[in-house]
Amino acid sequence: MIVVFGSINMDLVARVPRIARPGETVLSLRADSFFGGKGANQAVAAARMGQGGPGQVAMVGAVGNDPFGAACLKNLEDNGIDVRAVRMTDEPTGCAFITVDDIGENAITVASGANMALRSMDLPDSLLSKASVLVLQMEVSLADNLDAAARARQAGARVIWNFAPVPPAKERSGMADLLEATDVLVVNEHEALSIAEILNIPAGADYLKAATALARDFGPTCIVTAGAQGAYAVSGDGTQVHAPARPIAPVDTTGAGDTFVGVLANRLAEGLEVGPAMERACAAASLSCLTPGAQAGMPERQALERYLAQA
Ligand code: RIB
Repeated sequence: MIVVFGSINMDLVARVPRIARPGETVLSLRADSFFGGKGANQAVAAARMGQGGPGQVAMVGAVGNDPFGAACLKNLEDNGIDVRAVRMTDEPTGCAFITVDDIGENAITVASGANMALRSMDLPDSLLSKASVLVLQMEVSLADNLDAAARARQAGARVIWNFAPVPPAKERSGMADLLEATDVLVVNEHEALSIAEILNIPAGADYLKAATALARDFGPTCIVTAGAQGAYAVSGDGTQVHAPARPIAPVDTTGAGDTFVGVLANRLAEGLEVGPAMERACAAASLSCLTPGAQAGMPERQALERYLAQA
């Protein structure tokens, strides 16, 4: 079983000709709501890979006792995800305010709400004992991520940590410990450089140098997603594996990284090596960019296999 410990948001999305600069107002015709949150997105991406049926993916998170929370829970259930460890809180459900421009790039502000009320004790031992993989991101407390990772390791589960988004300076303590408790770190180019800088690793603007040092000094396999360049996995011994991405014309890149992480978790849990797992994760991430919203374009397993066979 894949257990995702993380955020659940409602995304309010406006399409704009270009993303506003500070102090500027840009008009959009309308706002749409989509299901989001990095944790929930990764759980849905993994669940859409099927095999194992309902309950193969469990979400551990927190929502508000409000209409957004109820809708987010139902969406997770509709995707076959076990939501028994999602807690209702007095805080409002997390909400992301997203603008997407004409070339599919986005800018996101997250109002965390209930997500910051999530605690590692919300992850029951009974669930952890069934987990082969625990998936973490950075939209909930780092201290609770760290505790969840340590418990997962003890229980024999593999820990995948998606270091996104980069936390503010005052919320970074424990990062080195979390990295040491991680089996697979997933970052984009910018996040690779940020984590290296935070941990005082000299890498300049070279994200692969950063990844190599992170893997060597802290132990995890370090995967860097690099957009059109695909993804690179670097191990502690310096071995590098590359998976290419297929060219696409993106409509909305929101959730592409989450699709990568969810599909990667699914394929690693099924025993695939990191190279072929990344290849499938890259293809799924590309497909997810062809439809507006974080989750709408995430492929089912058969659609992904057809796409891989075509290319
Ligand atoms: O990674 C995309 C996600 O980031 C969005 O769904 C939004 O909710 C933010 O958490």
